Amino acid sequence: MNATTAHSLERYRSFPGVPELLSALAPAKPVYCIYPDVYRATAREFVDTFPGRVLYAVKANARPAVIRLLYEGGVRHFDCASLPEIATVREACPDAECYFMVPVRLRGAAREAQTRFGVRHFMIDHASGLPPLAAEIDMQSSVVFARMAVHHVAALQDLSSKFGAAPEHIPGLLEAIAARGAEPALAFNVGSAVTSPDAYRYSIGAAADVLAELPFRVRLVDIGGGFAKPYPGFAVPPLGEYFAAVAAARKDLPLAEGGELLVEPGRALAAPGLAAVVEVLLRKEQRLYLNDGMYGIFWELRFKGHDRYPVRCYRHGRPIAGATARFRLYGPTCDGTDVLPGEVELPADIAAGDHLEFGAIGAYSLSGRTDFNGHYSDEIVFIEGAATPPG
Ligand SMILES: Cc1ncc(COP(=O)(O)O)c(C=O)c1O
Repeated sequence: MNATTAHSLERYRSFPGVPELLSALAPAKPVYCIYPDVYRATAREFVDTFPGRVLYAVKANARPAVIRLLYEGGVRHFDCASLPEIATVREACPDAECYFMVPVRLRGAAREAQTRFGVRHFMIDHASGLPPLAAEIDMQSSVVFARMAVHHVAALQDLSSKFGAAPEHIPGLLEAIAARGAEPALAFNVGSAVTSPDAYRYSIGAAADVLAELPFRVRLVDIGGGFAKPYPGFAVPPLGEYFAAVAAARKDLPLAEGGELLVEPGRALAAPGLAAVVEVLLRKEQRLYLNDGMYGIFWELRFKGHDRYPVRCYRHGRPIAGATARFRLYGPTCDGTDVLPGEVELPADIAAGDHLEFGAIGAYSLSGRTDFNGHYSDEIVFIEGAATPPG
């Protein structure tokens, strides 16, 4: 107990379980628990079963330890949206391959990504994005993706309202990329929290229609991320059903020799391996006030999708169960909107001083928090051994 686990740049205290961490640290602030075996196993399963090349979408959780654990689980490719993300990945995993998969970059970032980190894959979604990119990189040795807009009702968060060219503009963009000397490729991202495999069937079908009309064949098609995860009150099909839909749709994609699908999962890889241990500060009937909230680890609950996480409760460091009741959960800040959207079923006698462990909270949680009202915790530990997170 209380050993230290070194992971790339970071060192973490390690505990066999949450009870041991609570008795050793008696934490007043939230503690975030990385379950390394869960991260490795999640990555392994995805890489072994997806019919194509898996790029982890770093934005979902850019913690170096998480990146390293996914690498240990078999992920070798990383979808990055900025130079700092690329630097973080390469520091955690020196031989990982980073892809700069966003149509907007800071001036000079593409150049530095290529010269310093050997990045070869870039993206545009408009003809005006090509000259500034071509001015910074060696086009002959690069692959440039044209990002196409695709929309589907099953994607709770549409990711084509900001980026993505209309399908009719894609042939012109691909031709312009090829004319500048780079290998042209196609990308799209139907959205995040995609609740049905139909969205992938539809978007890969839309890509097939565009590619079929081209006078040449592209080799790489990036289908984006979006694979939804089940949470309490938010049921979605198992990952295998999404992959089966992708594999079937891929058969109709007219690709060049050596053609390959790329995929950019964020949530599916980042979510399962992290839990947040928070304390109940105050109970007012069915309202609980916690030491973390919507400006902290729960921030992504403001978007459409799930409204709560799986939870386990502890009193004096030991798990508690028994008859339950529904509670509304509030964060610690002064803001009236600092309230979780979904009610949560908890032991009916839950009280101030008890702890709640929220599982499956690794995606869009650690990154994206604020220190609003002075509330922020960077206490992160490893839970190593047989213990598993809630969910
Ligand atoms: C371009 C791109 N790729 C991948 C992802 C990852 O999405 P998800 O976490 O839903 O898999 C996102 C999410 O915003 C994205 O914008």
